[in-house]
Amino acid sequence: MAKLKVAVLISGRGSNMGSLARATMDPDFPAEIVLVLSNRPHSPGLELAQEHGIDIRVIDHKEFADREAHEAAMTQALEEAGTELVCLAGYMRILEEGFVNEWRGRLINIHPSLLPSFRGVDTHERALERGVRVHGCSVHFVTAELDAGPIIAQAAVPVAPDDTPETLSERVLEAEHNLYPHALALIASGKIRWSGDSAVADSDVTEHDVAVFPNPL
Ligand code: GRF
Repeated sequence: MAKLKVAVLISGRGSNMGSLARATMDPDFPAEIVLVLSNRPHSPGLELAQEHGIDIRVIDHKEFADREAHEAAMTQALEEAGTELVCLAGYMRILEEGFVNEWRGRLINIHPSLLPSFRGVDTHERALERGVRVHGCSVHFVTAELDAGPIIAQAAVPVAPDDTPETLSERVLEAEHNLYPHALALIASGKIRWSGDSAVADSDVTEHDVAVFPNPL
């Protein structure tokens, strides 16, 4: 079966992009990365993508008059690469409604919290401030409302009494690196899709496919 053509949007380190790239090296993985696109010319993730032999593009937002023009250029680059699904992986700009609607149902993101808790930035700091015992990450479809689109899959991690935002973020990041390729495989194989306003799963998708429970500390 033809592999789903995926583009990954990054702004920085690109470790989630790296985990997706590693997963796609498996010949049986149902998706391939056709492009890594960054809005920042010096994202370390660009070099990592090149090490994997993936085409890269920089579309620097600073070179455009406004967000719409920047995102129209991104859509053009994505289309030129034959993109069928866009994965946001540490893309640090809020996307305009036009772009989100253009890619509706074909645009997913990984967020470092168990949504709908802790939308936005500084999730680990805020989770510790609130004293949550369980934290984690979510892969979701992107809608115009920030971090509020239909949830595809989630992984939970325990919070240790002596956690700092750094130690907690490391634990969550490890969970992200497992969850994102897994969620992408579910989408690419058509087992989960956008329908109406929700993420609909085939009947053979079990809770183990979409929910990763915390390992004890
Ligand atoms: C990750 O924590 C991701 O969930 C969030 O931004 C971070 C990006 O890290 N959206 P990386 O660039 O993938 O290493």
